[in-house]
Amino acid sequence: MKTLTIATLSLIASVGLAFAGAPEGKDLYTAKCAPCHGANGEGKPAIAKMMGVTQKPLASKEVQAKSDADLKKVIMEGQGKMKPVAGVTAKQADDVVAFLRTLK
Ligand code: HEC
Repeated sequence: MKTLTIATLSLIASVGLAFAGAPEGKDLYTAKCAPCHGANGEGKPAIAKMMGVTQKPLASKEVQAKSDADLKKVIMEGQGKMKPVAGVTAKQADDVVAFLRTLK
């Protein structure tokens, strides 16, 4: 029983660590990404139409299948019709990636 409690506690602790940057990432996401991707990454039909692309929901399997490094690269370097997001540091990009992981 005691070992189970310890195992549970360390599991909670590691999950907590994995989401360490998520609150900061959320603020940044709301400021820099939500205008194009929606509050929860669902996408914005008007933006997709204007840019002539289909935006996958950021919570979708396809997007979540990307590695943290790939997601960070999209933020820092852009992808397809999405331009690199200006004024985002590498650390902030990590925080946003942590937030994106909370969407799934
Ligand atoms: C000016 C509008 C705009 C902003 C701002 C923007 N995006 Fe995007 N994003 C897009 C569009 C449009 C696409 C689809 C690009 C394509 O497929 O050509 C995209 C694609 C993506 C993808 C890849 C999805 C896929 O299907 O592979 C990710 C991840 C992403 N954006 C995350 C972010 C994050 C995180 C931010 C904020 C730091 C952000 N975006 C800011 C418009 C935007």
